[in-house]
Amino acid sequence: MTSSSSDTTALFAPLIAEIRALYGPGPIPLHRPVLEGPERRWLVECIDSTFVSSVGPRVMEFEERVAVFTGARFAVATVNGTAALHVALHLAGVTADSEVLTQALDFVATCNAVRYAQAWPVFVDVDRDTLSLSPLALAAFLDRHAERRADGVYNRASGRRLAACVPMHTFGLPGRIEAIVAICDHWGIPVVEDAAESLGS
Ligand SMILES: Cc1ncc(COP(=O)(O)O)c(C=O)c1O
Repeated sequence: MTSSSSDTTALFAPLIAEIRALYGPGPIPLHRPVLEGPERRWLVECIDSTFVSSVGPRVMEFEERVAVFTGARFAVATVNGTAALHVALHLAGVTADSEVLTQALDFVATCNAVRYAQAWPVFVDVDRDTLSLSPLALAAFLDRHAERRADGVYNRASGRRLAACVPMHTFGLPGRIEAIVAICDHWGIPVVEDAAESLGS
């Protein structure tokens, strides 16, 4: 960021005023789940059927419907988003002491999953309009710091392997995923898309 904090305050003042007009003074909830109509019925149905764990007809139906919706061959339900990322990072080849590129504005679960894989997050800036990983910042980072070696791409500054990139779609705003994938393909870095905030976007 090149702007000073007073520039930043002025920049966001109209947005803050608009949000305050909606919510009034005091804490603003990041998200408040609304469970009514079919959602409430299906939750009650799960409780009544006792299928409240990792198996049951609704789990399989969820996996099938997510696969169809996303165009993937398979979908696997996990206990939460952190576990899904943890598994995906392993499958992408993230190993202990490697690095994972991700974005500076994020929910902590992404970094938790990186640390569960015993790797290190490397933070790259986001775009102001999408709030998601900036392809320009990513390309600039890789051009400046990345080095191809026989067994992968390395961060010259840290000496660690850049094992994966995890962009995230913030608050349901789709990020510039095609550009990010093109940059990572160019470097041979696998992409794990953190869509925890964006299913349906
Ligand atoms: C960007 C992001 N990644 C991952 C997660 C997964 O979190 P959890 O393990 O709580 O399901 C979340 C949850 O909100 C998230 O916002």
